[in-house]
Amino acid sequence: MPKIAYFNGQYGPHHKAMVHIDDRGYQFADGIYEVCLVIGGRYWDMDGHLARMERSLSALRIRMPLGVASLQVVMNEVLRRNRLSDALVYIQVTRGVAPRNHPFPADEVPPALIITARRFDLDQSDAQAATGVRVITAPDIRWGRVDIKSISLLPNVLAKQAGVEAGAAEAWLVRNGKVTEGSSSNAWIVTDDGALVTHPKGHEILSGITRETALACARDLQIKVEERAFSVSEAQQAAEAFVTSATNLVTPVVQIDGVKVGDGAPGRVALRLREAYKARARRISGAQND
Ligand code: PDD
Repeated sequence: MPKIAYFNGQYGPHHKAMVHIDDRGYQFADGIYEVCLVIGGRYWDMDGHLARMERSLSALRIRMPLGVASLQVVMNEVLRRNRLSDALVYIQVTRGVAPRNHPFPADEVPPALIITARRFDLDQSDAQAATGVRVITAPDIRWGRVDIKSISLLPNVLAKQAGVEAGAAEAWLVRNGKVTEGSSSNAWIVTDDGALVTHPKGHEILSGITRETALACARDLQIKVEERAFSVSEAQQAAEAFVTSATNLVTPVVQIDGVKVGDGAPGRVALRLREAYKARARRISGAQND
């Protein structure tokens, strides 16, 4: 069965889904995206994803391509046609198709919407979490509005590639001596007295939906949280480190630029938070199913 995608207002085989060469996403990276999870047929943290999508679009003055209810109908249909109930859904909206010219098109064109889905399992990154991952650091050369989930990801791609070439799973981006976030995840450390530290929300990080839920889990577990920036050397000397994202959930970091974090094994707090996160995802998705 070929994978089915939603593109140009229709459903069709993924391998035949083409965008117009004048799509402003293709020409200018003039668009936004979201990556969200479906667990047991239910959307997880969807309110957060929709709110961030609306914020990103409104910051770029692109209108929502569909109302929220219609968007969910299309997402459901993509899941149904791909026979998926545990999935990662990718949503992309660009300003649409118009002859290449920097200003917004004079005549309003409809935004272009793409929705794809692939199988995802909450446990699929367990093996990686059990060993932990290595990260490198790289200068954060991104623009000043990375809170917008823009498809313009070249600095992230280059940093991630530098990480991969160094045998690491992620690159932590450093601006003014402080770690802002990972190339596709939020960055965290755990202090010697067991408090979580992560960069505060603002224009310098993408406010992760997983980050928000991890904060809620930490509150439930009565773990102290400090939303402040930290340096690379503080992270290297921290008790633990980890990353959060929709695809990696909560994943322990065991090495930063070749320096072991703690004893070089996944930290207890990070693993506890990962379990709490997964339990919450299963509980809330399950409760919605009842
Ligand atoms: N990336 N920071 C950056 C730069 C990201 O690209 C992401 C997500 C996050 C975490 O956001 P969330 O918890 O909402 O997934 C933080 C997605 C998964 C991606 O680009 O594939």
